[in-house]
Amino acid sequence: GITRHYTFNIQLQNVTRLCHTKSIVTVNGQFPGPRIVAREGDRVEIKVVNHVANNISIHWHGIRQLRSGWADGPAYVTQCPIQTGQSYVYNFTIKGQRGTLFWHAHISWLRSTVYGPIIILPSLNSSYPFPKPYREVPIIFGEWWNVDPEDVIKQALQTGAGPNVSDSYTINGLPGPLYNCSAKDTFRLQVKPGKTYLLRLINAALNDELFFRIAHHKLKVVEADASYVKPFKSNTLLLTPGQTTNVLLKTKSHYPNATFLMMARPYVTGLGTFDNSSTAGILEYQLPNSSSSSHVNIQKLRLFKPKLPPLNDTSFAANFTRKLRSLANRRFPVNVPRTVDRYFFFTVGLGANPCPKNQTCQGPNGTKFAASVNNVSFIMPTIALLQAHYYGNSNGVYTTDFPNNPPMPFNYTGTPPNNTFVGNGTKVVALPFNTSVQLVLQDTSILGVESHPLHLHGFNFFLVGMGFGNYNPDKDPSSFNLVDPVERNTIGVPSGGWVAIRFLADNPGVWFMHCHIEVHVSWGLRMAWVVMDGKLPNQTLLPPPSDLPKC
Ligand code: C2O
Repeated sequence: GITRHYTFNIQLQNVTRLCHTKSIVTVNGQFPGPRIVAREGDRVEIKVVNHVANNISIHWHGIRQLRSGWADGPAYVTQCPIQTGQSYVYNFTIKGQRGTLFWHAHISWLRSTVYGPIIILPSLNSSYPFPKPYREVPIIFGEWWNVDPEDVIKQALQTGAGPNVSDSYTINGLPGPLYNCSAKDTFRLQVKPGKTYLLRLINAALNDELFFRIAHHKLKVVEADASYVKPFKSNTLLLTPGQTTNVLLKTKSHYPNATFLMMARPYVTGLGTFDNSSTAGILEYQLPNSSSSSHVNIQKLRLFKPKLPPLNDTSFAANFTRKLRSLANRRFPVNVPRTVDRYFFFTVGLGANPCPKNQTCQGPNGTKFAASVNNVSFIMPTIALLQAHYYGNSNGVYTTDFPNNPPMPFNYTGTPPNNTFVGNGTKVVALPFNTSVQLVLQDTSILGVESHPLHLHGFNFFLVGMGFGNYNPDKDPSSFNLVDPVERNTIGVPSGGWVAIRFLADNPGVWFMHCHIEVHVSWGLRMAWVVMDGKLPNQTLLPPPSDLPKC
């Protein structure tokens, strides 16, 4: 592989959407940010220079960061943030991955505007396990606020209430024609008839899972979270925040007298308020021969709109997730751990913190919203966990007593317990190098059931099981899939259900795991794994770079 160099200048830029102009934090003035393109095996060096007043850090979502944990990016987990006027070079090698991922700011809610695609092409002497597409098109979903999202989360955390929702969803930064004052800000994909396009879909939205569909066109899924899957047809797709999916789009063989909308709108299972609007882009056929005089009048073309599933279509979600399977062939075998060294059972869900004295709170029953894993709402430390770990002084930074199981047995998806209060702490799980882990993630109903897309840094995991209701450790494992489980970095824990995942802790460092719904992260639905060094020199975390930011 070669080394690819990028410079990311974090700078303010005036951007207008929905007739609101505001100054937003961007990379190089671009919104969405620039693409990172590399081949499997390449080294990538990105110099991030902070020219804004906010502290910043960037995460390369889904990149495994083998031994290079210092480049992972979550603020106060693997690094202190890059302060105003400072810079930091993220340096990592891409191994064993190819496909679509994305990068985003990993501090506060700055990822609302600071994000962009990562495209990993197969190595030079290698090819796709599907016919080479005519063109490749990144399609990145996001959210737009007319106000500053930083104010939205600040206010929500102060009052304890749920945050205000965004004003629109976006496709490649553009809300599209279904919003007021937005028709000119529409993503247009011009295609030729009878060709195959590879769409690289990324859900970078903050707080919503999204359905996606193109009117009158069939899509074939070939890849998820930068791992190939057994190809399957699905006209509607579902992506949780943090998930990426590659699909093949075959265009119609004749030039059709029509324009087709592609549309995305949320899949919502929770109780709170949400943005129930739809973003749309346009798929338009180019004339077969641009030099031929055309009498086609675009205005007269028929406009087709796709039909998306109902808002809370949980069975679609479950079926779609179940269809994703690894290739599991000789060229791309699945490395799912067959034996398990450590079993974990984590509940994920919402809860509350008591309202501080002399304050009125607007969360459930006058409390403050919180969220937890095993009832621990994670408090961010003030120095980076990885630094504390590496220098052996975790004292006062974190403790290694993260519980293996939730505190008390209760019917997770039945009647909520009387006490909805969470515990708080900076607790981690410490794992010896090469521990094979099975983790069951169980949704709780403490404040209503809701789907939670859990994202694990530093690893891909295998989805070996999934179900509704309470996980049954005596019965459910008998139906686990160890043959062709999908390999990914983000999985939606179903509303009122559970997933079982396995991973091998072969990457030393400190690895964040959290819900990728940003408001749930802010409320504490996050924790970290500390993976110790192995015995061999190539099983140890590399030393920190000299420009690693200080807190
Ligand atoms: Cu894309 Cu820790 O997140």
